[in-house]
Amino acid sequence: MRADRPGARGFFITRRSFCQSALNGSLLAILAAAFYPILRYLKPPPGVEAAQSSVVAAKIGDLKPNSAKIFRFGNRPGLLVHTLEGELKAYSAVCTHLNCTVQYDDASRSIWCACHNGRFDLKGQVISGPPPRPLENYEVNVRGEDVVVTKTG
Ligand code: FES
Repeated sequence: MRADRPGARGFFITRRSFCQSALNGSLLAILAAAFYPILRYLKPPPGVEAAQSSVVAAKIGDLKPNSAKIFRFGNRPGLLVHTLEGELKAYSAVCTHLNCTVQYDDASRSIWCACHNGRFDLKGQVISGPPPRPLENYEVNVRGEDVVVTKTG
């Protein structure tokens, strides 16, 4: 008695259903191979943003008064400003309009976005231009030689 005949006892599989299963499996593998890289690209790296709530933005003495530097805060830029009065302030350097990177303008002592001429004061508030919201402010602490910037919210 052959095991692949209908009505026979035990497990049997027809050539047609075997080919159908193989085809379905191959199709699934091709779709997974095509979409996996796209999903990996769209998903941010795990924990980069959440893991870094604090970063060393500079060493004390790196910035002279009335100057600034861009630093990396996770996967986004931050702006550390040493004001003319000697205060250290930090903000997200991502413009709230269309996400361009802002910069410090020492002549006007304000923060400027070159993309659409948006301007912020040193509290991060919008002075002029299209940005709809203030810049996100960060907390700045000096620990030894390090200028540590911390997200507050
Ligand atoms: S992106 Fe900054 S003003 Fe438009």
